[in-house]
Amino acid sequence: MSAPEDVRQRMARLTELVRDLGRRYHEEDRPAVPDEEYDALVAELQRLEAQHPQWADSESPTTLVGGRKAPGLAAVHFERPVLSLNNVRSFEELAEFDGRMRQAVGVEPAYVGELKIDGLSVIVTYEGGRLVRAATRGDGATGEDVTENVRTIEDVPEQLREAVNIEVRGEVYLRRSTFARLNAEREEKGELLLANPRNAAAGSLRQLDPAITRARSLSAFFYEIRAADALPLTQAGALERLRGLGLPVEPHWTVCQGLPALTDFVNNWETARHELDYVTDGLVVKLNDLEATRRMGSTQKAPRAQVAYKYAAEVGVTRVVGISLSVGRTGSVTPTADLEPVLLQGTTVTRASLHNADILASLDVRVGDTVEVRKAGEVIPEVVRVLPELRTGGEVRFRYPTVCPECGSVLAREPDEVAWRCPNRFGCPAQRREALIHFGSRGAMDIEGLGEKTVDALLEAGRVKSPADLYRLRVEDLRGLPRFGPVLAENLVRAIESSRERPLSRLLTALNIRYVGEKAAVVLARHFENLGRLREASVEELAEVPGIGPVVAESVHRFFGTAEERELVNALAAAGVNMVEPLVGEVSGPFSGDTVVITGKLFSISRSEAEALVQSLGGRVASSVSTRTTLVVAGEDAGSKLARARELGVAIIDEEEFRRRAANGRMS
Ligand code: IVH
Repeated sequence: MSAPEDVRQRMARLTELVRDLGRRYHEEDRPAVPDEEYDALVAELQRLEAQHPQWADSESPTTLVGGRKAPGLAAVHFERPVLSLNNVRSFEELAEFDGRMRQAVGVEPAYVGELKIDGLSVIVTYEGGRLVRAATRGDGATGEDVTENVRTIEDVPEQLREAVNIEVRGEVYLRRSTFARLNAEREEKGELLLANPRNAAAGSLRQLDPAITRARSLSAFFYEIRAADALPLTQAGALERLRGLGLPVEPHWTVCQGLPALTDFVNNWETARHELDYVTDGLVVKLNDLEATRRMGSTQKAPRAQVAYKYAAEVGVTRVVGISLSVGRTGSVTPTADLEPVLLQGTTVTRASLHNADILASLDVRVGDTVEVRKAGEVIPEVVRVLPELRTGGEVRFRYPTVCPECGSVLAREPDEVAWRCPNRFGCPAQRREALIHFGSRGAMDIEGLGEKTVDALLEAGRVKSPADLYRLRVEDLRGLPRFGPVLAENLVRAIESSRERPLSRLLTALNIRYVGEKAAVVLARHFENLGRLREASVEELAEVPGIGPVVAESVHRFFGTAEERELVNALAAAGVNMVEPLVGEVSGPFSGDTVVITGKLFSISRSEAEALVQSLGGRVASSVSTRTTLVVAGEDAGSKLARARELGVAIIDEEEFRRRAANGRMS
């Protein structure tokens, strides 16, 4: 591309493309291409703009710090711009940065190396130690007011340990484990899956309804003091100060003396970072001397004395050799791409998720296609896109089946659901297998030794068909089966035996009732206390239980109205499986016999910790005040629940009294 017209055209196209991709990324939280590709396009545009400034668009996306604000949330104007970082991608570029720093400070500089958390930047203001405002970064000049949403993040304290005025900056993110849990729940409900933890975090924070943010269980780390009565002199000092005030700080930061130490830090984290429960998209290298940092100032976009170190791409390119389908325990049929092996983040990848029929169709993946795959925080990598320019014409389109690949039943799709499901819950061998594995899994009946292979062996030998058959197994029945020596057989029978005593909540989880996960199971079991009462409950009675929504209520009711399910439950009962939830009140403590509602803001403890404390000390927790409520803990700014408690004459205590009572219980 040497002709000037070509260059000019290329710049115009790049400008448009980068603008569009940036908009999708920042405003819709839906990146269309991997970050590496986006960064490469920006870098190319920057290079061309530097060579041909006369053709640069005066509003080029390279001059913007980030995207623009999302509609709906109130705007927050920043007094000082909220900057971004320039990237370096190799040791050479890091050495150039170090050269500039050495020149500026005159000696071998000390740096702080930090992990770069892949989340969403937030600016939080505390006055007199109280959280008064939180904002996203937006375009760096104007962000969005997310104060109420940030208040729902347990990591972010309402009250600092000192009554200071301070403005801090940090990153809100979603833990990998939380992301996996949320997606498992969404998959169960047939909802669209969240693309990756970063986008999920951004989408969760930029909600108009803080209740949605709360449900997503976000986390946060802080790394900068933007304004304070006394500014720290070093970055290490800033991080220690943040920590001392009670703010969460990513713990792996390291002071690195000079370039060699910095290089070690970069090398150390290249693979180790994948072990963490949060996604990092590189490192941040900061001059430790903050006065020098301020002196050196910033370009339009980024401070001169801080850079992001980006590791090599985590996307890989490989070929699809097949597309296979698996049937889950709820009958959902999920497509997976079988790949020619490719190395990604240090592991060999041979399969990548295609999520569901809609995503598969929109990606238009064909067998034989060359595709881009990436690991975006999930354990299972995903196909990002097809490289259509590499098609030879020999690729084979995949026809999504209309029948279950395992049992031949016609697949069905409920309105509002993305998943196609096999309706043959009892007859489909795949569903039977998955249901058995789930029955014995840790959060369910926790039967040690009943893993995939054992279940396969038992099914193959025809020894079990349904979970109730497990309780009839004797050591003799297992003798001679592949995998089973005498010790294994005895251990399995013993593990099954002791699972009879699990509380009702575990059994409810194990029964594989749509929409009933561990949490709903506990709520239901505590409320109804035994299976007899639960199974006779009407939809209305179920929906009245605090924490149980109409969808769960409907599903539970349908479950117990199904002949086969009732038969299974009867068979389990006949086999001596416990059908009762031990009463929480049986734990004796200062809240024994109390039904407690906690409302308003608490300062020394989070709401969920307080609730757990009540339960561990013998009480029940309820979410709304009723005639059954015996005690209300009223934090600051308690509203309607407090008023209702007064109306009903329920005992009301404040946070201090609550702590005193809880502590009494601990001592006794
Ligand atoms: S310092 C002016 N430190 O990365 C310097 N940023 O690509 C501001 N980030 O917008 C950033 N972890 O959202 C800094 N330890 C860390 C970080 C970090 C994640 C994010 C931040 C920033 C982006 C820049």
